[in-house]
Amino acid sequence: MSILETKHATMRFGGVTAVEDLNIHVDQGEIVAIIGPNGAGKTTTFNMMTGVYAPTEGQILLAKQDGSMEDITGIRPDRIAMRGVARTFQNIRLFGELTALENVLTAQHLHVKSNIFSATLGLPGYRREEKAIQEKAMSLLESVGLADQAHSMATSLPYGQQRRLEIARALATDPRLLLLDEPAAGMNPQETQELTAFVSQIREQFDLTIIMIEHHMQIVMDISNRIYVLDFGKTIAHGTPDEIKNNERVIDAYLGVADDAES
Ligand SMILES: Nc1ncnc2c1ncn2[C@@H]1O[C@H](COP(=O)(O)OP(=O)(O)OP(=O)(O)O)[C@@H](O)[C@H]1O
Ligand SMILES: [Mg+2]
Repeated sequence: MSILETKHATMRFGGVTAVEDLNIHVDQGEIVAIIGPNGAGKTTTFNMMTGVYAPTEGQILLAKQDGSMEDITGIRPDRIAMRGVARTFQNIRLFGELTALENVLTAQHLHVKSNIFSATLGLPGYRREEKAIQEKAMSLLESVGLADQAHSMATSLPYGQQRRLEIARALATDPRLLLLDEPAAGMNPQETQELTAFVSQIREQFDLTIIMIEHHMQIVMDISNRIYVLDFGKTIAHGTPDEIKNNERVIDAYLGVADDAES
């Protein structure tokens, strides 16, 4: 059963066609990778899926809880987030002056019901909710292996841990669909090696569907159910890891230079 589909999605910026006639479908529970050289249109694809950009042409469809597909083309990012889509960013976006725990807490606002009024008065309902929010944030930090760093400043964490913290922030909004933009970028070899198991773990634990942009081929091949390959905005191939590995067009356009592209 589909959770997300793009139908002929095209994104133009002035004269540049960043993504052209994109037709992706992602089934519930899958891990799907989007790969391709720098500038291929991968991040633009995420931006269309999350409402940052409305596609110039085509549609983005998202499954509702009952399984029917809803056209979310042109809907605002916060509304799409409320429908259960969360993402991380290629260039990490954390509040550097806040602790790891505070970073997760600020991401939970989407679901906080109490208003400023009850907060100021310190009413019991607010305090109860506040306690639940704190506990949930701590448990999210535990899930990403950062419980012992809860009170460290976000910017003091090594890069790999910042990436995990960003994932905890994304999980704080209770997503069904999680989009990861180059989660391995900047990670050291050990963190990179651990990423495959980590992504599988959070998929199980939080019952997620995951779309991942990644240059690191070992991770992509190990983890993906299916892969889409973009080049200059066009989809040049899609298939299973084995199909992609042996695809001549992909080897010519991308895999032959995969080592250079690992940044
Ligand atoms: N807001 C924008 N305005 C103008 N051009 C843009 C904009 N966003 C992206 N582009 C262009 O669209 C093309 C695709 O960019 P995109 O960031 O989607 O590539 P990418 O596949 O994510 O690349 P990378 O691997 O380097 O992250 C590039 O030519 C880029 O310069
Ligand atoms: Mg990108």
